[in-house]
Parts: sequence; structure tokens; C-alpha cells
Amino acid sequence: ITPKTNAQTLYTILLEILGAGMYGYVIGNIASLLANVDVARAQYLDKLEKVNTFMRFRKIPEDIQENIRNYYEYLWESRRGYDEAQVITDLPPPLKMKVALHLNRDVIEKVPIFKGASDDLIRQLVLKLQPAVYTPGDYVFRKGESGSTMFFIIRGSVEVIAEDGKTVYAMLTEGNFFGEIALLLKQPRTASVRAVEYCDLYTLDQDTFNNVIEDYPEFAHHVRQMARQRQQELGLEDSAITHDDSQQSNY
Ligand code: CMP
Repeated sequence: ITPKTNAQTLYTILLEILGAGMYGYVIGNIASLLANVDVARAQYLDKLEKVNTFMRFRKIPEDIQENIRNYYEYLWESRRGYDEAQVITDLPPPLKMKVALHLNRDVIEKVPIFKGASDDLIRQLVLKLQPAVYTPGDYVFRKGESGSTMFFIIRGSVEVIAEDGKTVYAMLTEGNFFGEIALLLKQPRTASVRAVEYCDLYTLDQDTFNNVIEDYPEFAHHVRQMARQRQQELGLEDSAITHDDSQQSNY
């Protein structure tokens, strides 16, 4: 189309300027996006190179080296190599809370016992939940060990197994939790738990659990109910878990 009048010429010039501007803007954004990805990738490759050099220097067995390389590959694929907990640590408290709420929204949404929890409870929990990654075949803990931490599964699956490493009591996946029995009863772990695939877990320690249940007994009630049911499935007596059946819902 060829402009004929002055107005049409002016309109065409403006349109061409706008087009050129848009083109520059889009190309600029793509370039900066690629540059950012490259920085993260370069940092990741640098770290991997250091780890590889160390493993060769200390003659780490080849199969363990392979496991470690796979672990770093998983970290790259799942979070571009960033250590989220470290990023949060460097922030001032109000920003810490905002970022933790944003990052842990997934956790809250995926774990049914957190659904419907009040904002206060979520705020108490998000800064305390600690992320942990397990690779396929890793034991999270073994039967008989002492422990006072419970775990929430955000991604992946684990199997609850007997001491023989073969008898499987249960398979737990995204949104499930485990490890609550030792936490509640201060007794050794009643079973072993092993990662079936790459797992992203969040851990909740005894102190945080105790603080939370003072204000939010319903949360503890849910956890106790599950502990009691699992103890029965394992053929164990449900000793001290029955305390709080009369608690009222707080969220
Ligand atoms: P804990 O005893 O701390 O450590 C082993 C965990 O396995 C236990 O807590 C429960 O969370 C979990 N567990 C035990 N038995 C079962 C079961 N039958 N089904 C699901 N999870 C279980």
C-alpha cells in the first residue's frame, strides 16, 4: 500500500517508527533473557566443574560421582541451581516473609492438612519449613533412628519400609507427610523411609511444631489422627498420641 495524502504519509511514518521500536524492544528483551539464563548456567557449570575436580582429586567412586552429577542436574532442572533458602536469608525480615510466602505457596497448596489454614498459621510455618532434596534410593531415615523432624512431600514419592529394606508398608506421594510419630512421641522411628525418585521435601522441626500447636491445635489434631492410624497399621499400640481429641477447630 502506497500513501497518497500527507496524512497517510505521516501515519505510515509513525507506524514504521512504532514497528522499529517494538522490534528493538522484543529483541532487547530476548537478548537480556538469554543473558540471564547464561549467567545462571555459567554459575552452575562452574560449580559442577569444581565438584568434578574435587571428586577426581579425592578419587570418589565412579557410581557416587554419577549420583552427585545427577543430583546437580536435578537442581538445575528444578530450580536453575539456585539455593532458595540462601537467597531468602540475605533479605530483611518483611521481604523474607513476602518471598517465603510466594515460594512456599506451592507447599501450602499441595499439602492437604495446610488447606484452609489461617494466614497466621501459614505465616508461622513458611519461614520455618526447610527444603531438602533426596535422590532415588536415598534413605531419609532408618527404622530405630532417633529423630524429631517431620517431612512434607512436595514433589516425588517415598516408600515406608521395614528394616529388611523389602517389605513396603506404604507409598507416599506429593502432599503426604511422614515422620510425625517420632516427633509426637519422642520415640525411635517406627519404619524406614526411602526415596523412590527425586524428592523435594520440606522439614518441620519439633520446636516449630510445638509453637504452632499452642496456637493452632487443629493442625496438631490432624497430625495426631494420622499418627494413630499409622501406628495401628504397623500393629503398634497408639500410646500417648490420643491426648487432644477434644480440641476445637482453629482454622
Ligand atoms: P516415624 O515413626 O517418625 O518414622 C517412620 C514414619 O513412617 C512414621 O513416623 C510415619 O510417618 C510413617 N508410617 C509408618 N507407618 C505408615 C503406614 N502404614 N502408612 C504410611 N506411613 C507410615
